[in-house]
Amino acid sequence: GRVAVLMGGDSAERSISLRSGAEVLKGLCQAGVDAFAIDLCANGADPVAQLLDAEFDRAFLILHGRGGEDGTLQGLLEMLKKPYTGSGVAASALGMDKLRCKQLWLGAGFPTPPFAELNADADLQAVADKLGFPMMVKPVHEGSSIGMSRVKDLAQLQAAYAEAARYDNLVIAEQWVQGAEYTLAVLRDTALPVIKLETSHDFYDFNAKYEASDTRYLFEHGLSDAQHQALQTLAVKAFSAVGCRGWGRVDVMMNADGEFLLLEVNTLPGMTDHSLVPMAAKQAGMSFSELVVEILRTAKL
Ligand code: DAL
Ligand code: MG
Repeated sequence: GRVAVLMGGDSAERSISLRSGAEVLKGLCQAGVDAFAIDLCANGADPVAQLLDAEFDRAFLILHGRGGEDGTLQGLLEMLKKPYTGSGVAASALGMDKLRCKQLWLGAGFPTPPFAELNADADLQAVADKLGFPMMVKPVHEGSSIGMSRVKDLAQLQAAYAEAARYDNLVIAEQWVQGAEYTLAVLRDTALPVIKLETSHDFYDFNAKYEASDTRYLFEHGLSDAQHQALQTLAVKAFSAVGCRGWGRVDVMMNADGEFLLLEVNTLPGMTDHSLVPMAAKQAGMSFSELVVEILRTAKL
């Protein structure tokens, strides 16, 4: 049957989704899949009307951020009885919510850096006493590092809160982890090869993710076999603890003591030519086209 590649949307990550979506469509077509694109919300279009008007049997979802990655679109497709790729309603909603995802992981016994919720009345001095500097300030429901800052003192914390609050009415501060950053693509219930990220920026920010040419993506991760195994197991367990399915990406830090700390799960990770899941698949011997066909096979209702 026909596959609709749903992309675009009206989140702050719209332009990234269009880049991801163009690659996915190309990969599916190369594999001979009868696929076409729907740019949701293009020119202010009503996404519900767009889906009702289109004729398709399955949807390949490649929207990032709110309205596409957060369970709302997944719920609409459930109502329309159209199978779709990736996580279902509840896991998508949790994956988009950095605060509740961290709470869930802590409750399930998985490590994640200490954090505090920030709001307009928050006692920033108390937050600083609890977490120390530097710390990360993050909008709770954003992606691609949009609205995020790394702060080194109280004045920067105040400014970073104001910046994050432009994107979201829920903001968290998270203790900075001095160490190495890793990301793990999960396909079905296995982790693909670990990628270690190195950036010359303060942190792995929007520019380092999509534009900079000096970001380093390393498969020589410097971990022992046992550590590597533990990291892959942690990623798969953290993914399934949230109830995620199909595919996704788990971001993890390793601190100076060699402990792994979960940062977040992305239920609709980027598929641009700068993105991590395609790199990990390639390392595992899977072409981009094979990867998207594998993801399409996971489509469910
Ligand atoms: N939110 C971006 C697209 C990612 O996680 O890759
Ligand atoms: Mg994310």
